[in-house]
Amino acid sequence: EKDIEGKLPLRGKKILITAGPTYEAIDPVRFIGNHSSGKMGFDIAHAAAKEGAEVILVSGPTHLKVQSDGITFVPVVSGRDMYEACHKYFDDVDVAIAAAAVADYRPKTVADQKIKKNEENLTLELEKTTDILKSLGEKKKHQYLIGFALETENEIEHAKQKIKKKNLDLIVLNSLNDKGAGFGKPTNKVTFIDAAFNTEPQELKSKEQVAQDIINKIKTRYNV
Ligand code: CTP
Ligand code: CA
Repeated sequence: EKDIEGKLPLRGKKILITAGPTYEAIDPVRFIGNHSSGKMGFDIAHAAAKEGAEVILVSGPTHLKVQSDGITFVPVVSGRDMYEACHKYFDDVDVAIAAAAVADYRPKTVADQKIKKNEENLTLELEKTTDILKSLGEKKKHQYLIGFALETENEIEHAKQKIKKKNLDLIVLNSLNDKGAGFGKPTNKVTFIDAAFNTEPQELKSKEQVAQDIINKIKTRYNV
């Protein structure tokens, strides 16, 4: 964004954002993925850039396009790629926001050749991926760290556990309970919970509005 007079509130702030799904290879032509569109992360990136922030957007495969000069776009494929990209930038940023739907498990080995349909049943062995957000929480110094949580039961309790486990300053709890909220939809039903466990349920909102609410939390934190 043009900020000739230097008046935009987040001018000089660097924000790292993860977005989209990850693709975990099975063989040269197949992967394990998920339905994340990347929209939430991209909306946060655009809202942040509009307020003058310098944004680094690390995203898994998506059809979305970056529409601002203030955003450095870092496309990645797997969770491992995303981990490496995040750690490359983290020390240098003021805020990090993990909106990506990172695969929790990946195939333990990747077949060199396309797997042929020789057997009647096929079992894939999976191993846990590294939790990128948790690894950033362990490294955190001055950074304001924001995560998301998707839960289907004991939502608030599980989200609070994630705040502790990942050393977060704020978590955005996503509810699937309401019609229209979640993957591939234009709206989200979220609850903000901070490190002191202050809990603020929100109305069903567009992802653009949720993105703006997150940016407003960041502005509050920096008193701008
Ligand atoms: N996350 C991450 N790296 C992973 C898994 C999750 O950075 N390997 C981040 C997500 O981007 C999100 C937060 O951690 O900000 C919570 O993701 P979620 O899937 O809700 O929780 P998990 O910790 O993966 O636990 P579970 O899926 O078992 O609920
Ligand atoms: Ca998960």
